[in-house]
Amino acid sequence: MRHVSFFGHFGSLNTGNESTLLAILSRLREASPECEFRCICTDPEAATARYGIDAVAISDRGPSGFRAGDLSLAQRIRLGLRAAGAELGQYARALRTLEGTDMLVVPGTGLINDAFGLGGWGPYSLFKWVLAAKLRRVPVRFVSVGAGPVTSTAGRLLVRAALAMADYRSYRDEASRDHLRSIGCRVSGDPVYPDLVFGLPEPLLPGDAARAHGTRRVVGLGLMLYEGRYSATGPRPQTYSAYLESLATFAGWLLAHGYDIRLLVGDGEGDPIVVEDFTAVLREQTAGFDERRVVARPIAGFEDVLAELAATDVVVATRFHNVLLALLMRRPVIAISFHHKCSSLMRRMGLSDYCHEIHDMDVDRLIAQFEDLECNRAAVTRAIGDGVEAARAAVDEQYGRILAAGGGAPTRVASSLRARRRRAQTALLGSAERAWHLLPTRVRDRGPVRACGASLHTQVCRHADREMYVGTSFLRNRPALELMGRLVEETEPGSRVRIAVLGCSIGVEVYSILWTLRSRRPDLELVVSAVDISPGVLRVAERGVYDAHASEFVNWPIFEGLSDAERERMFDWDGDAGRVKPWLQAGVTWQLGDASDPELVARLGTQDLVVANNFLCHMEPRSAQRCLRNLARLVSPGGHLFVSGVDLDLRTQVALELGWEPIAELRAEIHDGDAAVRYDWPWRWWGLEPLDPRRPDWETRYTAFFQVPAAA
Ligand SMILES: C[S@@+](CC[C@H](N)C(=O)[O-])C[C@H]1O[C@@H](n2cnc3c(N)ncnc32)[C@H](O)[C@@H]1O
Repeated sequence: MRHVSFFGHFGSLNTGNESTLLAILSRLREASPECEFRCICTDPEAATARYGIDAVAISDRGPSGFRAGDLSLAQRIRLGLRAAGAELGQYARALRTLEGTDMLVVPGTGLINDAFGLGGWGPYSLFKWVLAAKLRRVPVRFVSVGAGPVTSTAGRLLVRAALAMADYRSYRDEASRDHLRSIGCRVSGDPVYPDLVFGLPEPLLPGDAARAHGTRRVVGLGLMLYEGRYSATGPRPQTYSAYLESLATFAGWLLAHGYDIRLLVGDGEGDPIVVEDFTAVLREQTAGFDERRVVARPIAGFEDVLAELAATDVVVATRFHNVLLALLMRRPVIAISFHHKCSSLMRRMGLSDYCHEIHDMDVDRLIAQFEDLECNRAAVTRAIGDGVEAARAAVDEQYGRILAAGGGAPTRVASSLRARRRRAQTALLGSAERAWHLLPTRVRDRGPVRACGASLHTQVCRHADREMYVGTSFLRNRPALELMGRLVEETEPGSRVRIAVLGCSIGVEVYSILWTLRSRRPDLELVVSAVDISPGVLRVAERGVYDAHASEFVNWPIFEGLSDAERERMFDWDGDAGRVKPWLQAGVTWQLGDASDPELVARLGTQDLVVANNFLCHMEPRSAQRCLRNLARLVSPGGHLFVSGVDLDLRTQVALELGWEPIAELRAEIHDGDAAVRYDWPWRWWGLEPLDPRRPDWETRYTAFFQVPAAA
């Protein structure tokens, strides 16, 4: 590899983008010292000055200087033609620039969004440069990119086209990949690798700043101008003021409790404004505080952020890369999440309990999170250390993959034969998966193709590194809800029905069940125990307030399956946020618990209906089997169990052994009722095979609803 070009919003004073470019540049320079680099970016002079590489502007077209309203129709047409000609010139320029390039890389950052427009570094420019690269036969690699929001029709089309042309795509978190999937991009088989900044070479990270013994503990308090449309589809002006007021109250609390504060920022344009705004609110709220205890140093580059972090003990930050750099420096951190990337990062590090939603600031909760963090700082720091090591290893693996695919010289990270074989297999599987989805369903689900799928799925499950997901959506499996409705139809008027929902995540499934049952039988007293192992999701569940695109934990279009009428009847809307109606919230007890816990039945009592969906498949098979047997004990004699999202061999074995009675009604419809899991077969361990009525055990195997006899 002799010549690599980077595309992105680089050269500006955004420390996140700059640290990303520096991270990848350092690693590629180390791997291929002979390689030359070029940056296609927003501020080429700054990029050249900072990194000593050639740089060109994404576009060198100036603004027209005319306002359409001032012009006649003929003048407008003439100008339009001239603009089209000039834009063609930009394509020619891109083709010239990419001559001799061996690889075009779009490295990290949250580049894939249209919140700041389509031009500049937005989707249109991205499309243009990717197209030019492909015309030049230059391989294009999107490496750990962040995505979302992409909301405009043009934005979606351009992003879809640009990604479809790429030779390699990886995303920095599941949420980005999910968002792209939700706008119609083909992302199955594309890997998720952590943010590139995790791969910053160690020598670039400063040691901890020396501090005199007995000095106060220092909190790095990260501020940011509110990002509006980038943050939420319906941004509200009061978010920024509520955010500042909450952080100022929190800062007042910190000062009163003996902490010093260092303000952390990270964007040349917005920093002075937010620091000024925050200081004004703090002065207003906490008259007469010692201003020397709140240090606000100007930040000219990401090295300054690192230096500030080195002088802190604990961090409460808003900017994504301030949180990430704090983690790299092994600082216990609370993230004020303004975008799904922040909550994804905290979840990846196992720190979801220390994530605070910017659209829902609550000072008391923030203080409680902070006190909790301080109490548990040793354990949290250890967990951060492990998380950072794992992320660095994953980033290394990805560099190996990219360099091998790019035909680069052998590198330290890509040296092992086994790793190469694995990469080749992954690449092959990626292509096979794309080809698979091109086949018509009737071909895929039958005969030898299906048999190939089955054997592939066995391999996928055998080698899967299973991890837990919290994804969910409203009315996820409509036929299953319909069957629940039919089951309660037979219940005596006014009677009490006890329901336990295990692995309830953010509550969406529980509200879907209550919606279905209460709409049909308002006379029944439904008593629901909703259990999850994660305290974070339970908090969201209990509040019952959801953003149209994401919650703090689930970045998935959770409302997608709902009609407008259902949206209106289930929720009270405030902008983009829907609050579940009180009649759906009544009667639920949200409980922290483990579905495998043998004490569960003593805690909850037996139930008329036990629901356990989409979490057993994420467990190792032996634990899943233990858990499923435990759940059966929860069902009262003659009661029902609805269990899906579980390995079918395992469910069949347990069902047959324990003598569960499969419910035939709507069997096939329920099996196909959740299109996403059917789509993911055979490529993912949670993928659900097509129903095969020729199997001798098919009636049990493809049933998700069972009646459990007394002996279970
Ligand atoms: C993918 S979500 C499924 C949500 C919902 N049941 C659905 O089907 O839409 C899986 C949920 O199971 C929870 N979970 C995982 N293991 C669990 C366990 N042992 N006990 C209780 N909940 C568990 C996770 O925290 C997560 O919220």
